[in-house]
Amino acid sequence: MTILDFHQYKREKKKVVVVTAYDALFARIVQEAGIRAILVGDSLGVVVQGKPNTLTVTMEDMLYHTKLVAGAAERCLVISDMPFMSYQASTEEAVRNAGRLMQAGAAAVKLEGGAAIADRIKAIVSIGIPVMGHLGMTPQSVHALGGYKVQGKAEDQASRLLEDAKALEASGAFALVLEAVPIGLAKKITHALSIATIGIGAGPHCDGQVLVLYDLLGLFDTFIPRFVKTYAHLKADALQALSRYKEEVEQGKFPSDSESYH
Ligand code: KIV
Repeated sequence: MTILDFHQYKREKKKVVVVTAYDALFARIVQEAGIRAILVGDSLGVVVQGKPNTLTVTMEDMLYHTKLVAGAAERCLVISDMPFMSYQASTEEAVRNAGRLMQAGAAAVKLEGGAAIADRIKAIVSIGIPVMGHLGMTPQSVHALGGYKVQGKAEDQASRLLEDAKALEASGAFALVLEAVPIGLAKKITHALSIATIGIGAGPHCDGQVLVLYDLLGLFDTFIPRFVKTYAHLKADALQALSRYKEEVEQGKFPSDSESYH
């Protein structure tokens, strides 16, 4: 998959499917499932590193996980999140850090923010790096937003989001994540843009959807946002497997003869 497919899918009204992955094992499973776009999300700060938010994720973390995913899912478009403070301070830093993620194997990078970071996006795109935008509930601004809340409910907020979306399109972003925005607003933004909108908690009218892998597999349950659909219950399976293993070792049932060498 390439960024051109995002444009074609939008034209043909075909849904774009994106999911996060952070390591080679899951990247291979995602690829085997036929999903062709993987986001190495800075959500890894929460689901892999166990932190309360994404603010502590570093460029080194993102480079490491990007290498693991890109090395394993060669048929997928790998998009890497630019972590907090890797693009905010200056355009030069933004360009340099976007380049480092590409050298680690990413095919595109994602930045959070609207018109305020349009110059960063333009500069990154101008050196040949595809950029995905991210609007609405932008986790790197969790403190400024006063928590993980739906964005764009009020009319002035909604029109600002629409303007931001247009600014990102104008600055050369190839697609845009819309996180936790009301259905009607997501629909309006989707119709107003020629680039694909990828929703997460933004309803069914977006051009595609993205979910955090550990959420959809039922592995992460510290908090489950309303927009998550749990397609499997791997935490429950893991708990059951581990307690059976513990029990069998304690009772001398494992290893049995067939699991032993003679
Ligand atoms: O970090 C992430 O996983 C993301 C998605 C939730 C869109 O940004």
